[in-house]
Amino acid sequence: MSELHLLDHPLIQHKLSLMRDKNISCKKFRELLEEVAMLMAYEVTRNLPLEETKVQTPIAEARVKVLAARMSIIAILRAGLGMVNGMLRLIPTARVGHIGLYRDPHTLEPVQYYYKLPKDVADGELIVVDPMLATGGSAAGAIQLLKEKGARDITLLSLIAAPEGIQRVRREHPEVDIYTAAVDERLNDHGYIVPGLGDAGDRLFGTE
Ligand code: URA
Repeated sequence: MSELHLLDHPLIQHKLSLMRDKNISCKKFRELLEEVAMLMAYEVTRNLPLEETKVQTPIAEARVKVLAARMSIIAILRAGLGMVNGMLRLIPTARVGHIGLYRDPHTLEPVQYYYKLPKDVADGELIVVDPMLATGGSAAGAIQLLKEKGARDITLLSLIAAPEGIQRVRREHPEVDIYTAAVDERLNDHGYIVPGLGDAGDRLFGTE
């Protein structure tokens, strides 16, 4: 069964609390999302596999360890875009894929309209990013697409999760670990997380 990791680092919690405030500017929201994504990237990469190699220091040869796997960040559009740069600051060699899904306002189910993935996406570790894990439809759909492309090592990273979204991802993709900074109370009738932070895409891009 997948593991649910609650990222309770004080800096992550502090920044998330600032982001929930509806009165902060779009600029501030964007900056905070980038900063919190960088901190979350540190936590989510904690167990990445390493391999041994050798390097010549100015003094002698040293046996060292480097990352063994290729990394790809897969952003679920739109709001996932707001996490990419922060993550790239810690993992600058990661490749970046995009999956465009919108929620049908009636069924709340994801409809795919775009995807562009790194070449050989199945080769290496994938981190799927979407700040809001609400119904879980988009995340589960994105993970399904990646699996159909042969990907196996997939982790989901969300800033805030609803119990409904966690349950759905775990039911459909029991091998995928989920990392989040908060598990909120529930979804409302429009599929928004309560208390959440509103529409992350709108707040990120100023499209409210
Ligand atoms: N997407 C958002 O941006 N916010 C929510 O609360 C739910 C889905």
